[in-house]
Amino acid sequence: MSNYVKRFSAFDRVVHWVLAVAFFVLVFSGLGLFAHTFFGYFDFFGGPEQGILAHKIAGIAFLITSVLLFLAHAKETCRFDGDDAKWFGAFGGYLKRGGKEIPQGKFNAGQKLFALFSFVATIALGLTGWVIWDPTAMERGLTQMSLMLHGLFFILFMMGAVVHIYLATIGNPGTADGMLWGYVKKVWAKKHASKWYKEVIGE
Ligand code: HEM
Repeated sequence: MSNYVKRFSAFDRVVHWVLAVAFFVLVFSGLGLFAHTFFGYFDFFGGPEQGILAHKIAGIAFLITSVLLFLAHAKETCRFDGDDAKWFGAFGGYLKRGGKEIPQGKFNAGQKLFALFSFVATIALGLTGWVIWDPTAMERGLTQMSLMLHGLFFILFMMGAVVHIYLATIGNPGTADGMLWGYVKKVWAKKHASKWYKEVIGE
């Protein structure tokens, strides 16, 4: 019997990795727009004009893939139960060594929160990005407010993404396998997503 269990379809994985690449293009092209100190980052793209174009193209790719990823997992990420409340109460067990795992579904409560945040922040970045697409096109007050909110959501997203990437790699070894190859080890599933594991193997 195989030691692995299927976790993500090819569609899930392609959408996630296009999203991740678009995110990094957005970060590096956006830094030049964010503050003067980072103006040099435009050199990665061949200059400010090309950097802004890359930011707009990556922004559209990010918006589409982020909404698709959210819809693909919405059934699991939008439903919270008593075990999720326990998970939040114990901070996911991350502050204590060797504690008992709290049973979780396909995604733990923290991942669900990140998925919901990602969706809301994507919509906010998309709407404000649309207003500032051409900074002279709309009313000045609205453009300034949108610029401020765009920067704020960028900072929040960066913080969320750093935590997400750490927890999906070094923090919880074996997790990245699912997004890379589509399968995770059964021992990983039993430990991190025991309720989902029981469902999948039909227990
Ligand atoms: C090198 C960068 C990244 C790595 C290694 C990574 C890794 C992963 C992995 C392994 C999963 C599946 C977790 C599981 O099976 O439980 C996942 C899910 C997900 N990722 Fe990423 N990711 C990266 C970048 C990003 C970025 C930049 C975003 C958003 C801007 C993102 C958004 C998501 C979302 C929304 C999910 C679905 C569920 C959740 O909230 O965990 N990822 N990622």
